[in-house]
Amino acid sequence: MAVLTVGLGDRSYDITVERGSLAAAGDIVARLGRRGRAFILTDSNVAPLWLGKVAGSFKAAGFDVSSGSLPAGEKTKAFGSLMTVYSMFADAGLTRSDLVVTLGGGVIGDLGGFAAATYLRGLDYVQIPTTLLAQVDSSVGGKVAVDLPWGKNLSGAFWQPKAVVIDPDALDTLSDEYFSDGMAEVIKYGCIRDAELFGALESAGSRAALSESIGDVVYRCCDIKRAVVERDERDTGERMLLNFGHTYGHALERYYDYEKISHGAAVAVGMRVVCGIAEKKGLTEKGCADRITALCRSYGLSCEDKAPYGEVIKGISSDKKNLGGKLNVVLIRSVGDGYIYPTDRRFWQ
Ligand code: GLY
Repeated sequence: MAVLTVGLGDRSYDITVERGSLAAAGDIVARLGRRGRAFILTDSNVAPLWLGKVAGSFKAAGFDVSSGSLPAGEKTKAFGSLMTVYSMFADAGLTRSDLVVTLGGGVIGDLGGFAAATYLRGLDYVQIPTTLLAQVDSSVGGKVAVDLPWGKNLSGAFWQPKAVVIDPDALDTLSDEYFSDGMAEVIKYGCIRDAELFGALESAGSRAALSESIGDVVYRCCDIKRAVVERDERDTGERMLLNFGHTYGHALERYYDYEKISHGAAVAVGMRVVCGIAEKKGLTEKGCADRITALCRSYGLSCEDKAPYGEVIKGISSDKKNLGGKLNVVLIRSVGDGYIYPTDRRFWQ
């Protein structure tokens, strides 16, 4: 069993990355000394696949289990869904000593985590991510949120889970589209911190060739995120590196009202766009944008989009990485070497 510890003092927790661990999740959590009620929040895609197995493992470990399922999709991550989740918690009779378990992708993890952070002024929760994107990114680090009409993740909190249980076998049932979505974040880690990972992804060159080692890839990404979060939990410095490709990517998602483009596809475009600009300004080694584009394409991410550039960058002014009128853009000097470049909106023009 591969275990990483996110060291955050009394908020430290383990990330377990292990094939078959969905069936062991209850035991893993019970070993933390937890007992009592566990409420599993999931969605309509994941429930038929994994809810029985995970609920069974918590019951076998001695928990009193209840569960609720929400419609799958980004629309569920809306502020209005919080009321539905709170009413599920109330119907289940959750008290402060009970546990919320989020079983699903980033939408369920972020929404369920935020509901846990705010219900009764804060319940403990455990993340069991089942998509690649959630396994390598959103389940680790304690950022929980819902979307508001003005933008993504605008109402949220830092609320660390008590454990993250990752079963790479859960990725076998993901469609190619969902797998590609997560690969954008995997490629991002290679870009900002790990040239060797980037090279290994290039050598594999396809989902099929990567499948044998996907557990190691997930572990490696989680380890990078662990180290970054330990040094900058509150996202005031180094953690911004994790947003490589996201400034333009988020603006693109906003342009499409979060409907016509996936997060990963938008981030892939964002990585190409920001590298292209930075190469022209001499801020990034020449050739990186082409290398990133080729790698993204081999994992089903086109890095292309037809949205008018001038319209998309209008959305950049409301990005959360803007601090006091200043805009921080995440760049790479070369593959594996990310840095934060303080600039202003003119960077994009
Ligand atoms: N997904 C970016 C972060 O956790 O900071």
